[in-house]
Amino acid sequence: MTNYDIRKDFSILNNQDIAYLDSGATTQKPKQVIEAVDNYYASANANPHRGAYKLSIKATEVYDEARAKVAKFINADMPEEIVFTRNATESLNLIAYSYGMDNLKTNDKIVLSIMEHHSNLVPWQYVSQKTGAILEYMYINEEGEIPISEINAKIVPGVKVVGITQVSNVLGTINPVKEIAKRAHEVGAIVVVDASQSVPHIKVDVKDLDADFLVFSGHKMLSPLGIGVLYGKKRLLEKMRPFLYGGDMIEYVYEQSTTYAPVPTKFEAGTQNVGGAVGLSSAIDYLNNIGMETVESIENELLDYAYKRLSELDFVTIYGPRDLSKHASVISFNVNGIHPHDVSSILDSQNVCIRSGNHCAQPLLRYMGLDSTCRISLYIYNTKEDIDKLVNALLKTQQIFAKWM
Ligand code: ALA
Repeated sequence: MTNYDIRKDFSILNNQDIAYLDSGATTQKPKQVIEAVDNYYASANANPHRGAYKLSIKATEVYDEARAKVAKFINADMPEEIVFTRNATESLNLIAYSYGMDNLKTNDKIVLSIMEHHSNLVPWQYVSQKTGAILEYMYINEEGEIPISEINAKIVPGVKVVGITQVSNVLGTINPVKEIAKRAHEVGAIVVVDASQSVPHIKVDVKDLDADFLVFSGHKMLSPLGIGVLYGKKRLLEKMRPFLYGGDMIEYVYEQSTTYAPVPTKFEAGTQNVGGAVGLSSAIDYLNNIGMETVESIENELLDYAYKRLSELDFVTIYGPRDLSKHASVISFNVNGIHPHDVSSILDSQNVCIRSGNHCAQPLLRYMGLDSTCRISLYIYNTKEDIDKLVNALLKTQQIFAKWM
């Protein structure tokens, strides 16, 4: 299957003449996923876990099937290790509150990479402020990679939590998560992996990585908005207190106390987003049908082409690893002398959609001496023509500004 075959499933890309290059922010949805969600609401909608009638049982079944499918997709040991949330941010907050607050104390260390998205950084700042734990960072070299020496220097005895993004949403750097997890475990720390920019694009195996927790969002992998995943090793999840309290997450409720349901229900208070889970399940079917190896090879070919074409523009500065084997299909760049917001507005006038700004990673940009960049993030429905459109639009942008420079 090629990207040209895949693109036919995305009516938004066919009905509008756009080069959509912002899949790191959210992906478009194929008709199969839209139909699966539509079909769920048309034929099986009820509140799961609540009713003894057939429709509610059906809703419970599809919800449980989705959980099992997610577990298999990332090679978790069992469906109970998958907690559904709203998105990766909520998953990371759950870990920070339910694990971090109860397991960290004064002078313990939390180590994050400087390239974390705010969602895997701000919650840990809060934990640090509340518990007295010390927050430290692993910094990057000129190539936008964390050197092994930095990993070994920062992950030392006393570190209790290591937070690492598998793929940087700004630089596209693929981080050595397996090595980082090994090092974290050697010093007695747990590792929290933000896989928001990796699970949609590369085969992720939580057992191979030996991740203690791993999170991602459905909407960045062809699913509807509002469904996210927290993977956690069962023995850790079982020891953690709930994050949200209320209906369904309980076993027995007395006037003054409550016992909680087993995992994962303990972490899923309130009526759950079954429609979102159905969409995620359908997205996994869609990706499995293509095959994650094919997904990777389509994206690698697009990355090579985009990197080459952008490198040919002498007015463009590209950031991140030059070794493309360590680079996912996200490229940050700047157009010399033109603010990224101006670049993206002019590109938009030519139907090219990119993101500009700090990409929810202000500490990273500050460390690099930047305040914003332009970013393209590619996916399986993009084509070389999309990239040609981008390059032509950049040439035009430069011509427009040349008059004033
Ligand atoms: N986290 C999303 C991005 O990187 C929104 O664009």
